Amino acid sequence: MPANPSSLLILHPRLNLYLKPFFLSLPHCSSPSFTFNSIQRFPIPKPPFPINRRNLSSLSSAATTQSTDDNGGGRDRPGALSAPPTTDDVRRIDVNPPRGTRDFPPEEMRLRNWLFRIFREVSLLFGFEEVDFPVLESEALFIRKAGEEIRDQLYCFEDRGNRRVALRPELTPSLARLVIQKGKSLSLPLKWFAIGQCWRYERMTRGRRREHYQWNMDIIGVPDVMAEAELISSIVTFFKRIGITASDVGFKISSRKVLQEVLRCYSIPENLFAKVCIIIDKIEKIPMDEIKKELKSAGVSEKAVEELLQVLSIKSLTKLEEILGSAGEAVADLKLLFSLAEKFGYSEWIEFDASVVRGLAYYTGIVFEGFDREGKLRAICGGGRYDRLLSTFGGDDLPACGFGFGDAVIIELLKDKGLLPEVNLEVENIVSALDVDLQGAAARVASILREKGQSVDLVLESKPLKWVFKRAARINAQRLILVGSSEWQRDMVSVKILSSGEQYEVKLDELE
Ligand code: HAM
Repeated sequence: MPANPSSLLILHPRLNLYLKPFFLSLPHCSSPSFTFNSIQRFPIPKPPFPINRRNLSSLSSAATTQSTDDNGGGRDRPGALSAPPTTDDVRRIDVNPPRGTRDFPPEEMRLRNWLFRIFREVSLLFGFEEVDFPVLESEALFIRKAGEEIRDQLYCFEDRGNRRVALRPELTPSLARLVIQKGKSLSLPLKWFAIGQCWRYERMTRGRRREHYQWNMDIIGVPDVMAEAELISSIVTFFKRIGITASDVGFKISSRKVLQEVLRCYSIPENLFAKVCIIIDKIEKIPMDEIKKELKSAGVSEKAVEELLQVLSIKSLTKLEEILGSAGEAVADLKLLFSLAEKFGYSEWIEFDASVVRGLAYYTGIVFEGFDREGKLRAICGGGRYDRLLSTFGGDDLPACGFGFGDAVIIELLKDKGLLPEVNLEVENIVSALDVDLQGAAARVASILREKGQSVDLVLESKPLKWVFKRAARINAQRLILVGSSEWQRDMVSVKILSSGEQYEVKLDELE
């Protein structure tokens, strides 16, 4: 009898097939309260494949919908489990990384380091401290009731200890977890930043990938709009540093309190609020009739839907004030933010747009997103206030706000604007022996320079001078240091300044 590839599959004795309970094809099948009347076939490869039980304990629900083109292994068989790779597959390995993910060869890595360096510089400029969290988190951390898109995009699986885990799709829940864990030992306000890889099984468009890095800045413990104003100021500072201006990029700003105030007028219960926000966030992605239908089935009356949609089309704060009055928090917060923007000096970057709600359930107040003014790309960054996230994890709430800024859309924008920097490899010195017997001497020269903090590319084999010059040009070396026998006998080396061609000999202990 063929071995059972997983304890979760059931062998059909007559068909000689493994059958997979339907619950395994559901994206969030953490508690298998399943029935067997809906089952799917899982053919047993012939001859029976060598089973590595350790590999089989992890069944990614997301991976089950991947096609062969996605180099995910399976054909488009919704809910089907792919067999683990055999040694034959390994010989035919696809050299491309899984669809939606990236390799970072040196030139890409230099660009990434350049971008991250500016993320870091700006964060430190604003007095933020760097934090990090595991890429793998408990799946429960990302499960919220409101029906967010992010939940269906989760890379989640059961680990070998039968725990449901997920690759993080964002950093905010991890940050909240850490804040709760540290509790009273933290002195508020916290100003934290992080740069981390996030995973979302997303439909791929320009700048949207299945893996991306996100720069986050968050302020915990400040209830005032001053915090949001500070965060937007940091993003503006970042844009300016990379050459992006207010005519390239803007921020659309609104507050979820706008929706809340409209819903209150129609006595729509508070617990529907997040759900309504998630539906409204889809306005640009699905037809308006669908939006109306979803809102109605969520329990929003026809009249309230019409009013909501009308309010969402407002693009002026004065008009909003006319409709909502000036007594509410929504208008007061927004007015304050716009007046602070003037003081910070970034008014030209921001505009009010009531249709911005953002797609994450936890936002409670001001929300904002960075967009390219040509309208070619999806949101460059997004964030907002989330004063009630901590209590959803069982902690005590703290006022909080922050943003996430992806690495992919901004690179596309820089390409479009011709602003992508050329980040070249730069090694200060190249050191080469002129004779194979002098390789040890060259190693000594390299060590002396490195101890003095100079970067050195040491030529590790015996190579002709022509090759050494070519390499020096490729690595943009400033100096070529040649170790030849006549100089070495006098404890000297020959130095050539590559930009000017100037050449001289220098004593080993005077080499700087
Ligand atoms: P988000 O709006 O889901 O917010 O994502 C923030 C940014 O991450 C997006 O604007 C985009 O730049 C980038 N991003 C998201 N998904 C992808 C993707 N599939 N491919 C490439 N880039 C992507 C959050 O994640 C919140 N946690 C941000 C936050 C922090 N709010 C408060 N603090």
